[in-house]
Amino acid sequence: MKTLQFKNGDTMPAIGLGTWKSKEGEVYRAVMEALRIGYRHIDCAAIYGNEAEIGQAFKDAMESGIVKREDLWVTSKLWNNAHRREQVVPALQKTLQDLSLDYLDLYIIHWPVALREGVGFPSSAEDFLSLDEVPLSETWEGMEQCVDQGLARHIGVSNFSMEKLSNLLETARIHPEMNQVEMHPYLQQNVLLNYCKNVNIHITAYSPLGSSDRPVHLVKSDDPVLLQDATIASIAEKHSCTPAQVLLSWGVIRGTSVIPKSVSPERLRQNLEAVAVELDEDDMAQIAELDRHFRYVNGSTWAREGAYYTTTAQLWDE
Ligand code: A2P
Repeated sequence: MKTLQFKNGDTMPAIGLGTWKSKEGEVYRAVMEALRIGYRHIDCAAIYGNEAEIGQAFKDAMESGIVKREDLWVTSKLWNNAHRREQVVPALQKTLQDLSLDYLDLYIIHWPVALREGVGFPSSAEDFLSLDEVPLSETWEGMEQCVDQGLARHIGVSNFSMEKLSNLLETARIHPEMNQVEMHPYLQQNVLLNYCKNVNIHITAYSPLGSSDRPVHLVKSDDPVLLQDATIASIAEKHSCTPAQVLLSWGVIRGTSVIPKSVSPERLRQNLEAVAVELDEDDMAQIAELDRHFRYVNGSTWAREGAYYTTTAQLWDE
């Protein structure tokens, strides 16, 4: 498996398993199967509501000798309602308890958005906290405590623009090592990718397959369907592989990690095997043409009148 290298010598497998939208009752089997066939990178988050079930899979897989803790890379994410400095370590402790682990490989701030304690998703502007009141630099101090206490080996962020990363770098004592963002041929984000390379921040690409099972409020009838793209289909045919494998191989070739979600044994295997698909320069040039800056996860949940961000353009700094 190709890996992303970290300064302290740690390596993150380039293809991981995404668990967003993997339902309780399904995710245990998916994670067990993934570990059994060789996945060694699992991407989790407290807000997905399935960490306890994933933890059971980790426990069973380790007890039965399928995987050793030190061979596994586990990422999880701090939810928006625990952004105050003193809330971060307790939030991670809860995640660790759910995941049956005593440390994470990577802990990241899920969104540059702060919600009041106890709020899962906002129902009104009142549910938000201003980032002037709880700045991301304060949340980052809580993240640094996670490293100080040995609860996380690496820390990072998710859904951060270049501007937000650059602000964070000004105050960070511990360097952020990851930005997890939506990334696929319709949202290539070359400028962000290059910026991150220059400042030694890795990228994990979420929704690498176009997230066709995203929640209905994020679906519009005229949204393009990445897995049905004609160019991707023709490249898949040329390599005798599937469109999903082309999309994942593209992400790996660009030096990012990709975290396709699946609960199907056949697709889990297919996605892991994408690492063997070798796209050539012509394929990459054709895929470069597909960029249309289209977000499947557009951030609209976090922008509204009276909240810290009133538009998604402010959230993404675009
Ligand atoms: P399933 O879980 O039934 O396999 P993303 O990772 O971009 O969020 O996409 C996840 C969606 O893509 C899920 O609906 C998942 O369905 C589906 N999916 C995962 N792997 C493949 C694949 N190899 N081919 C087609 N669809 C896939």
